[in-house]
Amino acid sequence: MSAHRIPLAGVLGAPIAHSRSPRLFAHWLSEMGIEGHYAPLHVEPDDFGHVVRTLPRMGFRGANVTLPHKLAALQIADHVSDRAKRIGAANTLTFREDGIHADNTDGHGFIANLRHSAPDWTASAGPAVVLGAGGAARAVLDALIEAGTPEIRLANRTRARAEALAEAFGPKIRVVDWAEAAPALEGAATLVNTTSLGMAGADPFDLDLSALPASALATDIVYTPLDTPMLIAARARGCRTVDGLGMLLHQAVPGFERWFGATPNVTEALRAKVLA
Ligand code: ATR
Repeated sequence: MSAHRIPLAGVLGAPIAHSRSPRLFAHWLSEMGIEGHYAPLHVEPDDFGHVVRTLPRMGFRGANVTLPHKLAALQIADHVSDRAKRIGAANTLTFREDGIHADNTDGHGFIANLRHSAPDWTASAGPAVVLGAGGAARAVLDALIEAGTPEIRLANRTRARAEALAEAFGPKIRVVDWAEAAPALEGAATLVNTTSLGMAGADPFDLDLSALPASALATDIVYTPLDTPMLIAARARGCRTVDGLGMLLHQAVPGFERWFGATPNVTEALRAKVLA
């Protein structure tokens, strides 16, 4: 990797055509006048290792990694951040002299989005209710615990998946039955939907939010549509809501900083550009 080369980065996935990351990085590069490129790279699982080892020799400083490579990205790395180890997946690879560094910035993106959009929100204000136990839930749980959430009530349709996460993430997590998710909202300070419920084309979100205090903050990982049924229902209760697009934008910031050497801003103009 020689210093005079134009810095390159990209996102690896299959499929990759619908990724919003190239638009996001292109906006930042142009806004900040940085000479660099960020490419969508369609990579099949069988080719992943070969491609990742070749990218640094082509001038790539790093790459984002999306489905189905988030586990392979962890396994191929020479150095893995503690949070990526805890989450069990990586979404950000950085190529350095001493090898491939893997990190997971989803949890950072989640918390940064809340802090940016609702500056007076604090994790320590009270219990959180988290719906879902997939990959996104792992990053959210890790970030909520690190931010000081006193108790997390975790509800998932398949209870065994929630129990596995409680075992992995420790005693702050209390598993509640999916059927008990509605009463578990009582006294909650934060509600997070990490399920696909309410996403365009997925099953409807039909959880009864009548026990959610008006003082709570509600946020959804889903951002298609931007204003999800869960956020609309929470607002009807008087709650503050934060949509999920910001998490996508904020999770990209650490990679941009590492590869292009500048800190980008998450702005309304960026949101509009990424949604266009
Ligand atoms: P991701 O990695 O994006 O979190 P995932 O692993 O497919 O995706 O997880 C999707 C989440 O949505 C899971 O918690 C899933 O519940 P199960 O573990 O029971 O599958 C949840 N989910 C999807 N459809 C659902 C439905 N109709 N009702 C309740 N939960 C649902």
